[in-house]
Amino acid sequence: MAMTTPRKIQPDQQAWFHYRAGELHVEGLCLTDIAREVPTPFYCYSAEAMRWAYSILSDALSPIGVSICFAVKANSNIAVLRLLSELGCGMDIVSGGELERALAAGAPSSRIIFSGVGKTRAEIAHALETGIHQINVESAAEIEVIAEVARSLGRRATIALRVNPDVDAKTHAKITTATKDSKFGIAIDDIPELYAKAAARPELDVQGLAVHIGSQVQDLSPFRHAFASMAGLVTALRAKGLEVPRLDLGGGIGIAFGDNPGPDIAEYASIVAETVGDLGCQLTVEPGRWLVGRAGLLVTELLYLKDGQDGYVAIVDAGMNDLMRPALYDAKHPVLPFHQAKGAAASPRYRIVGPICESSDDFGAYEGLGELKAGDLLAFDCAGAYGASMASTYNSRDLVAEVLVDGDHFRTIRRRQNIREVLELEDTGNWQNGPAPAKKAAG
Ligand code: LLP
Repeated sequence: MAMTTPRKIQPDQQAWFHYRAGELHVEGLCLTDIAREVPTPFYCYSAEAMRWAYSILSDALSPIGVSICFAVKANSNIAVLRLLSELGCGMDIVSGGELERALAAGAPSSRIIFSGVGKTRAEIAHALETGIHQINVESAAEIEVIAEVARSLGRRATIALRVNPDVDAKTHAKITTATKDSKFGIAIDDIPELYAKAAARPELDVQGLAVHIGSQVQDLSPFRHAFASMAGLVTALRAKGLEVPRLDLGGGIGIAFGDNPGPDIAEYASIVAETVGDLGCQLTVEPGRWLVGRAGLLVTELLYLKDGQDGYVAIVDAGMNDLMRPALYDAKHPVLPFHQAKGAAASPRYRIVGPICESSDDFGAYEGLGELKAGDLLAFDCAGAYGASMASTYNSRDLVAEVLVDGDHFRTIRRRQNIREVLELEDTGNWQNGPAPAKKAAG
């Protein structure tokens, strides 16, 4: 089995987000210059950081024959998808909307995998008509629906069964997906019978198995357990005479974040090689965060300072609607001031909060940022994954913009969606004065 050469696995972040003459830069551009043209809050991504992350993973995994599909949910901007697709990355989607995005980005349908626990008939039909690579199925009931839809279209559906191996990924409870009580996947003990039944149906082309244990996984041992279970299952299915040509190992690889150093990609590759490398399966992984997480900042302006219980409260113009992760998962995103802090050790403590009318709109307490004042710009780091893609217009705020830097150029890859555009979707007339209903309500 070809082993990978260990490489430095975490980006030297200075390479993309760095201070030059005390000013925060992204690649070759000063962020202050970008912020002069783009109103805050906005996400700012480094194209090089994404290319770097892809190359590290692909260099480690391609010698052992593993292909990579990007989990679109992590960052679904079409420009980001296009960048990754042009590097050779496939796409892992979870909705009809993500399918549209992947196709709009030029991803070949033959490199698209459709995951997700609640696909509608319309989504399944669209995926089949598009001719995607594979649908990962999460329940016996879904197998029935896919078979029905395929029959009605006169097509065969290529599927894999997503296994719930009952492995605790040892990450935040809300991003743990493979314990027995989780809503995801099919219990490992039920797989042999279901697999055999599905394989016997003419509408279905059952190609293999999929697993995804959770997200932001730091300790790699749960991957070893899950992949070893999958290997055992493949062997058991084959012993029953069933073919299992494909194995999808899911995503979940963590990134360095706060106190977490981030996992070693060479070690991850060795685990893959040692557990499932000799099965002769076509192997795929579906990372989201690894490819884009460290490549993005959320840029915000400090609006007001006020005295707090323990230091200052710094109210910024980015809120939990722009970056949900602190409110949802207690994530603490490191903060980079635009002007490098001097004498950081003695600098005050700031609790950084957003403008949303919720106590959970709180990014946490920070020290070492230097002396801040209203009008200062700050950047939340490690915000390239599950930042913009989870943003909303809550409190009727504009949907956040996104900017992509490549070398010494930047481009707004999503402009802000403003309130006028949102209001266009709503009936702004007085509905009570509208046309009378066709039928009078009974009674
Ligand atoms: N494959 C499947 C089937 C998934 O459900 C996910 C993520 C992935 C792949 C990609 O996982 P990743 O490599 O990005 O860890 N919003 C949360 C993360 C939710 C992950 C959902 N599924 C967060 O901000 O931490």
